[in-house]
Amino acid sequence: MQVVIRFLTAAILLAAAVASPIVHAHGDVTPQAVDVSTLKPLGDQRLEENPYRGDKEAIRVGTSAYNQNCARCHGLEVISGGIAPDLRKLDIDKETDKYFIESVLRGKVRNGAVYMPPFEGIMSQEAIWAIRSYIDTRHEEPAAAPVSPMAALAKKSTCLSCHAVDARGVGPSYREVAKKYAKDKKAEATLLAKVKKGGSGNWGKVPMPPMDAVPEADLKALIKWILAGAN
Ligand code: HEC
Ligand code: HEC
Repeated sequence: MQVVIRFLTAAILLAAAVASPIVHAHGDVTPQAVDVSTLKPLGDQRLEENPYRGDKEAIRVGTSAYNQNCARCHGLEVISGGIAPDLRKLDIDKETDKYFIESVLRGKVRNGAVYMPPFEGIMSQEAIWAIRSYIDTRHEEPAAAPVSPMAALAKKSTCLSCHAVDARGVGPSYREVAKKYAKDKKAEATLLAKVKKGGSGNWGKVPMPPMDAVPEADLKALIKWILAGAN
């Protein structure tokens, strides 16, 4: 009985999903049956970790199940066109497995809007884990945060082996420097001379070595950048 109710709930939500303009825009939402007869049966107990990770047959089944049920929103070959999150960025670990199966079973429904239909009662856990196994093969690390050109120059000029923007290293943080000289109109010139010659005393006893191997134009640009907050 519970299963029937669950199925009905899912069917009603799906009907709502079809009616919803968000989903409607991506065409037919009829879920496609997934043949999981070639996979090891998992029973009724819901697992929280993908039992098929790396399994070739699961990946094969998952590829086709993904293309039929998920690709219209999450993109062919899991390359998201921006309608739905890029599932290649999901971590491959137990915690994310659990989040994955819960997301698929419950769908994404907020304030009455169906962003993603729930697959509870429609898709077996075998099918869901097979899809997860396929998505794992498409995994990509999120791109590293872009580095600003000035931060790149500071790194190239070896400043960042002693300084950080926000934290004290061997030398003061660049934000501290910006704060200290905020009202000093001659700061650019004073600091250029200091950085070229090196020295200690303003922040502690540890000296900065002379940085005159760095071209003067770069030093000037770096000091301007530091005084402006090193953003
Ligand atoms: C009708 C479009 C649609 C379909 C079909 C769909 N999804 Fe989604 N999915 C979304 C949207 C939109 C979100 C983001 C929802 C939100 O904003 O919370 C999402 C979120 C997710 C998330 C959470 C991702 C994250 O980064 O938090 C997972 C996992 C997921 N979907 C898996 C699937 C799988 C697997 C399928 C196929 C069985 C599927 N989805 C089918 C639209 C869809
Ligand atoms: C080997 C470590 C080291 C390197 C490399 C280094 N610094 Fe420093 N820097 C220091 C130390 C230590 C101080 C603190 C000097 C003091 O107390 O007067 C400092 C201080 C400064 C100050 C503040 C000076 C003052 O008198 O208030 C600026 C600006 C600065 N560094 C910029 C740079 C730039 C730009 C580079 C790269 C071209 C660089 N530093 C490379 C160690 C270093």
